[in-house]
Amino acid sequence: MNDNNIYPIFSRMQIRTDKEQLLGQHSIMIWLTGLSGSGKSTIAIALERELFRLGFLCRILDGDNIRSGINNNLGFTESDRIENIRRIAEVGKLFIDSGIITISAFISPNNNIRNLARSIIGENDFVEVFVSTPLEVCEDRDVKGLYKKARLGEIKNFTGISAPFEKPENPDVEIDTTSLTVEESVNKIMEVILPLISTKKNQEWGF
Ligand code: ADX
Repeated sequence: MNDNNIYPIFSRMQIRTDKEQLLGQHSIMIWLTGLSGSGKSTIAIALERELFRLGFLCRILDGDNIRSGINNNLGFTESDRIENIRRIAEVGKLFIDSGIITISAFISPNNNIRNLARSIIGENDFVEVFVSTPLEVCEDRDVKGLYKKARLGEIKNFTGISAPFEKPENPDVEIDTTSLTVEESVNKIMEVILPLISTKKNQEWGF
């Protein structure tokens, strides 16, 4: 008996491990969380480039990109942020199920929201990276000019100014871009993820 008339066909599709084997990698989600301007996108791009150089296939999911496409009907209320992250986690899961290493860069401002993502993706496939660059530094950089607008009250619910950011309790990696270069940040993440994404084939090749 199926009470919503939905009949998933997951069990008949080619399975994830076959796809991972084809690609010669194990797929995981690398989840970057932190304030706007903390360096999430920059690190995501540099990390993807380094992984690609080593022969790993990745997909980046990034706040401003996703919010101009699949999530262009969502704003920044708590409930919209939850829906934003729920969809992103579901999309991320599709990539992971295709064997693709997925890097996501979203503020994801509290433990509830990050735990929602973790539960959709699965604890074993989820690596949490806290980009902990302090608010003063992010605001000082103000790359997009949004902190200025938020201080003037031109943007409501702006994370760090008029909406909360709750620090992750137990991140797998913490990166403060005040003291680390992009290259050092990438290396710090690589140390944690290489053992998780590498297969025997990668190890034979020496990485
Ligand atoms: S999240 O909180 O729902 O995870 P997300 O990462 O998707 O946020 O989007 C954050 C980006 O949206 C910021 O980097 C910034 O460019 C833009 N933005 C626009 N309005 C806001 C706001 N009120 N709070 C935070 N970011 C905002």
